[in-house]
Amino acid sequence: MRVAGCDYRTVWLDGSTVRAVNQALLPHRFEIAALATHGDTAGAIRDMVVRGAPAIGAAGGFGMAQVFLEAPSELPARVEYVEQGYQRLRLTRPTAQNLFYALERVRQAGLAQIDPAQAASAAMAEALAYADQDAAACLRIGQLGAPLIREGATVLTHCNAGWLACVDWGTALAPIYVAHRAGRKLKVLADETRPRLQGMSLTAWELAAEGVSVEIIADNAAGFFMRSGGVDLVITGADRIAANGDTANKIGTYEKALCARASGIPFYIAAPASTFDLNCPDGQGIPIEERSGEELTSVAGLDEQGRLVKVRIAPAGATARNPAFDVTPAELITGIITEKGIIRPTAQDIARVIAPAIG
Ligand code: MRU
Repeated sequence: MRVAGCDYRTVWLDGSTVRAVNQALLPHRFEIAALATHGDTAGAIRDMVVRGAPAIGAAGGFGMAQVFLEAPSELPARVEYVEQGYQRLRLTRPTAQNLFYALERVRQAGLAQIDPAQAASAAMAEALAYADQDAAACLRIGQLGAPLIREGATVLTHCNAGWLACVDWGTALAPIYVAHRAGRKLKVLADETRPRLQGMSLTAWELAAEGVSVEIIADNAAGFFMRSGGVDLVITGADRIAANGDTANKIGTYEKALCARASGIPFYIAAPASTFDLNCPDGQGIPIEERSGEELTSVAGLDEQGRLVKVRIAPAGATARNPAFDVTPAELITGIITEKGIIRPTAQDIARVIAPAIG
């Protein structure tokens, strides 16, 4: 997607360095982070410099390729290094399935080669293939989902499931971009998405950069707008979709789905096949990341001098709970927009359409 007239992907490989849009600085500064080692890449995923399930997958895949590039050529030290790097990348964030999918693909590609140089180039090729496939899948999600958005529609979305959360295009935002570029008039309501405010700082930023009309709303205003006829459909992304269609996404997604159902509004999930975890029978098996309570008790922003600062907003000593995701039960989901088609959130449709795509 375009930033100030230049085309960017969220994350890419430049020689042996991973480069990524630094999402921790947006919307205030647009900077590219340079991640020279797999340790740097793991740190960037953990600290949410790169975030959003498909983007985490791409960064993880590139990080795994870095592991093979860095590994000593002698055995058994090489195998040990690869295993340690793999585990380090796996432990960065627990919920987004794309991370585990990409890591496994790149690890297997590297391990299939005996020669160290060939192992590194096979791992790099696989990581690049994952990134290219993700970009293509997201564009297809956009093309398949765009007809759901009628002329003059208002779409509500939660968190950031745009191009920043993927390699390119986005998942929930891809149908919006495709419809917008086709000249359809539409508007987006972006939930601010407490506590890290991805809706306010990322979704509003990237939609405005593409010229899409967007208004930020407080998280707890979504029900008001849905109930009063101000929303035509809801589209969100996903971090992991279980075999029965139960879907983990950013905390608060479940409440939006409940509001949508109570207001008779269609509620769609948009996600590539790499977000599905067919080994997870239902939502109860999806690991939910619990992050530091400090994300609630403090906020970051610009002070009057334009410096990035963090300020405490809770009483001194207050503690907080901070689950980063929740699970929306399949029965609240109207459909899942994938690159393979818009499917019903049922075990049958998922097994028929998604299982062949992810092997
Ligand atoms: O904690 P984050 O910012 O990585 O969470 C991201 C989300 O929940 C997104 O909605 C999800 O990854 C879909 S991304 C296309």
